[in-house]
Amino acid sequence: MQNGPVAGLPVDYFLRQLADFASGRRRSADVNKANAFEMAAMARNMTPEEQKAAAEYFASMPFTRWIRVIESDTVPTFTATVNGLFLKSHGNETEPIGRRLVEMPEDTYQSNMLRNPRSGMVAYAPIGSLEAGETLVKTGGNGRTQACGACHGPDLRGRAVAPPIAGRQPGYLARQMYDMQQGTRNGEAAKMMRASVEKLTEDDLIAITAYVASLQP
Ligand code: HEC
Repeated sequence: MQNGPVAGLPVDYFLRQLADFASGRRRSADVNKANAFEMAAMARNMTPEEQKAAAEYFASMPFTRWIRVIESDTVPTFTATVNGLFLKSHGNETEPIGRRLVEMPEDTYQSNMLRNPRSGMVAYAPIGSLEAGETLVKTGGNGRTQACGACHGPDLRGRAVAPPIAGRQPGYLARQMYDMQQGTRNGEAAKMMRASVEKLTEDDLIAITAYVASLQP
């Protein structure tokens, strides 16, 4: 749940990511994000045959959306675990969402204790995020970003040039766009994203990724 989904990614894109992880061109801007280093180590240790087999396997698997996006002024009170999950606290208390996007399991026990891959997640976004995100995604917001459909396809389900992003979890999408903005994800193809991310504020990132995550994959 706290990691990027790999199902339904095109073979070429998947192989390019493994190459970028291995060469250091896809790094997290957060140096404390341990699993980004683990991913790079795994990519470096795979043979080309293993990389190809993994890419073909995951490309053959349809991506199923497992997160729903809700706009809200408040979120259930939560704590962060060491492995990067936000878990609802006991009781029914809430706290103001502020300018945050918060993802947490629908069912803490199913997701955290059982690691049930079929128990979904909820993403809470500030009120107004979806409408603001839709405008930026569809129009580029007068040069603030670019219309995403030009490269990611009209429904953001991917085209030869760029991967599918619709319905994938907003925290992951936002991390990727932030890494591109910071320049730590800077593979040859990721440079195509530069004009789309360089001027975005954190609020724009929240709005855009909440909207993209709300779409049908
Ligand atoms: C000019 C073409 C282009 C435009 C416009 C564009 N993208 Fe991209 N995007 C790409 C390419 C190419 C990649 C893959 C980069 C790579 O291979 O590392 C990508 C990758 C991404 C990723 C990472 C996906 C993943 O699975 O890690 C996200 C998120 C993303 N784009 C979001 C957006 C959003 C949101 C917009 C609109 C605001 C947008 N892009 C506009 C070309 C584009």
